[in-house]
Formats: sequence, C-alpha cells, structure tokens
Amino acid sequence: MERKDFIEKVGLSAAGVLIFGCMQSCSKSGSAPEPTTNNNSTTPKTIDFTINLSIAPYTVLNNAGGFYVDPVNGIIIARTLNNEFIAVSSICTHQSVTVEYQGNSNRFYCPGHGSTFTNAGAVSNGPAALALKQYKTSLANSNLRVFS
Ligand code: FES
Repeated sequence: MERKDFIEKVGLSAAGVLIFGCMQSCSKSGSAPEPTTNNNSTTPKTIDFTINLSIAPYTVLNNAGGFYVDPVNGIIIARTLNNEFIAVSSICTHQSVTVEYQGNSNRFYCPGHGSTFTNAGAVSNGPAALALKQYKTSLANSNLRVFS
C-alpha cells in the first residue's frame, strides 16, 4: 500500500469514529431542560434538578391541581389545590403504569388498576402494596427544585 493510500484510509477511519462519537453524545433533542441523572444501576439514583415554571411544558404547574410527569427521572410533580408543590415517583409500584395527579381528590391515581396514593406517595388503595418514593421540592421565584 502506498503511503498516500494508507494516510487516506486511516484519516477516513478516524473521521468516521469522531462523527459516530459525536452523534452518540449529541443525539438528545427537545427544549425541556435535562436534569442531572445517574444511570449507574449499582448505586441509588441521585435526584436534583430545577425546572422553570415560566417555560413550557412546566407552565402546567402554575395552576392548582396541575401536574407534570418528568420522563427522564420518572417523577411526577404536582401543584396541590393549596398551592403546595409535591413530587413522587411516577411509576406505579404495582405494574409500572405511569400515575397521574387528581387535584380534586388530593391524590395520585394509577389508571392501570386503580391504585391511589397520598400526596406523600403512601398507598391509600391497592392493589399496589408499596409507596411511591417521595422527593423534596423548593421554589425560588419561578424555579422549582426537585431533589432527594
Ligand atoms: S399498575 Fe398501578 S395499580 Fe396496577
């Protein structure tokens, strides 16, 4: 192989690796802020992220009874009719259906099989037997922090 051919082939291979690597790390899209995540399954997941309530899709939380499900962290954030922010795991402990918030009933509800949970995530009606993990919230201006 000629030196020139060798350099061309090595150069193309290196460029391919760089482009592939960039596509891997740059493939996320959407305007919602990306919360901090820890995907290491051997350690507990640390939750700590902030959302801006003046930016969609979080503006639903400006209304009492509104809720937002964060698909990245699997957390449902709700604003109670008393204007308190609450957050729990959005994954039902029965068979992993995504729960919703029912402001008028002041509870989380699973449309899968009807389990209900208190504002703190405790089971109030089965078949789910385990509570939803509760997270802390803190509001500063229009920034709502959700953390464990
Ligand atoms: S999946 Fe939630 S009650 Fe069955």
